[in-house]
Amino acid sequence: MVAKTVPVDPFDLIVFGGTGDLARRKLLPALFHRFMARQVPDDALIIGAARGKMTRKAFQAHTIDALEEFVAEDERPKDKVKTFVAMVDYATVDAMSDLGWDALVKRLKGREDRPRAFYLSVAPRFFGPICDRLGANDLVTAATRLVVEKPLGRDYESALALNAQLAASFDESQLYRIDHYLGKETVQNLMALRFGNALFEPLWNSKFIDHVQITAAESVAVGSRGGYYDQNGAMRDMVQNHMMQLLCLTAMEPPSHFDPGAVRDEKLKVLKALSPITETDVEDHVIRGQYAAGRKGPGYVEEAGDPNSRTECFIALKVEIDNWRWAGAPFYLRTGKRLAARHTEIAIRFKDAPHSIFDSGVAGMKGNALVITLQPNEGIQLRLNIKDPGPGGMRIVSAPLDMSFAKDLGREVRMPDAYERLLMDVIRGDQTLFMRGDEVEAAWAWIDPIIKACEGGKATPVSYAQGSDGPMESHILLHQDGRRWRDIE
Ligand code: BG6
Repeated sequence: MVAKTVPVDPFDLIVFGGTGDLARRKLLPALFHRFMARQVPDDALIIGAARGKMTRKAFQAHTIDALEEFVAEDERPKDKVKTFVAMVDYATVDAMSDLGWDALVKRLKGREDRPRAFYLSVAPRFFGPICDRLGANDLVTAATRLVVEKPLGRDYESALALNAQLAASFDESQLYRIDHYLGKETVQNLMALRFGNALFEPLWNSKFIDHVQITAAESVAVGSRGGYYDQNGAMRDMVQNHMMQLLCLTAMEPPSHFDPGAVRDEKLKVLKALSPITETDVEDHVIRGQYAAGRKGPGYVEEAGDPNSRTECFIALKVEIDNWRWAGAPFYLRTGKRLAARHTEIAIRFKDAPHSIFDSGVAGMKGNALVITLQPNEGIQLRLNIKDPGPGGMRIVSAPLDMSFAKDLGREVRMPDAYERLLMDVIRGDQTLFMRGDEVEAAWAWIDPIIKACEGGKATPVSYAQGSDGPMESHILLHQDGRRWRDIE
């Protein structure tokens, strides 16, 4: 089975921060994959823009290096790489001065009818100055889109200020706020599963669902990012964006249509229905952790370069949603570094059968679970209770109904990286998988009091062993509700 692609119109993509890490690791390889899939036409123009002086040739060589490092050898035939880099150009442009802007204007002249995307892969302090200069130089055409990525603020106030700054030069319909989790194939599959099958929707509520667990576990340490990470912590780095988005897609009402307005309206309603976690009850809902030094390497505080750091690199939360669908069925979220494995999943735990008709009782019977695995092995698994095969009575065991995409849909389907999908959506002008400004603000509005309470000394981080599944306190959070986390493996 071969994945079908619909080509996009010839476009101009200008990546500010074009020589940076994201462009090298993700954007250039993603564009190349889409080019190989014949989705990117070969008269597209991709301009890397940055302050440093560099020739077009040098940037093309830089692009080849990136592809050699991040695209498998058998997926990058030499002649295709050559055609691809012919579409690549470089512009020396300074966000903070007039340097290079005239040349960029000249380069884009006469191309006003093509979809034009400016991708700001730069620190947020440059967003405002770049937007101002794009406006002042008349570079914002009707078909222009602006792409930005987290951090989209540090709190509610700064998110408001950032949105206002973007709104000064762009209409909301031109803004593409990336959360790369929304581009992950399985996340989109969650919507297909929920809204493409009549099977689940009648059960998708607290009458049948006991609770939901969302886990984003990483085995890597913060490593050399320690100093930077310590300014943010897991709450800002993972929960405010990625985890909140996963929660929204799991909890939202069916939108009337799969379009940007309808989907984002429903996600926003979930964010607004989150039960506030206040300073008085934060310790009943939030567990924060830091990995201790161990055989695998130094502890979090050493890597952060601050022995007194109170920033969390692990967090577990109990989140309640105040609406009819979810009252009584909490969402438990956890994410952390240096855990037992890299594993991201959404697990929907259904309620136990109300009564067992089998002599063996309910001992072997567990509530059904629907597990949507985002990584490393994307797939969906439904755990059912079945009869233990063989004679000797009716014993019930839990067994999986397993759909591993790579296996079941044929090996030729390479799981595309999230950026491939998202970049093509930008060019097509489809905002469905991007966050709207009000969503970002609503997520911060709910998170802010939790961060404030933690920074004020509540829920101080507890230590956990490297390679474990987090601190004991995180298990207690569920035990006290009569539940347990799924293993991280
Ligand atoms: C990023 C965070 O947004 O997501 C990182 O800043 C984290 O700290 C990463 O490692 C995880 O992304 P993925 O796609 O590897 O799950």
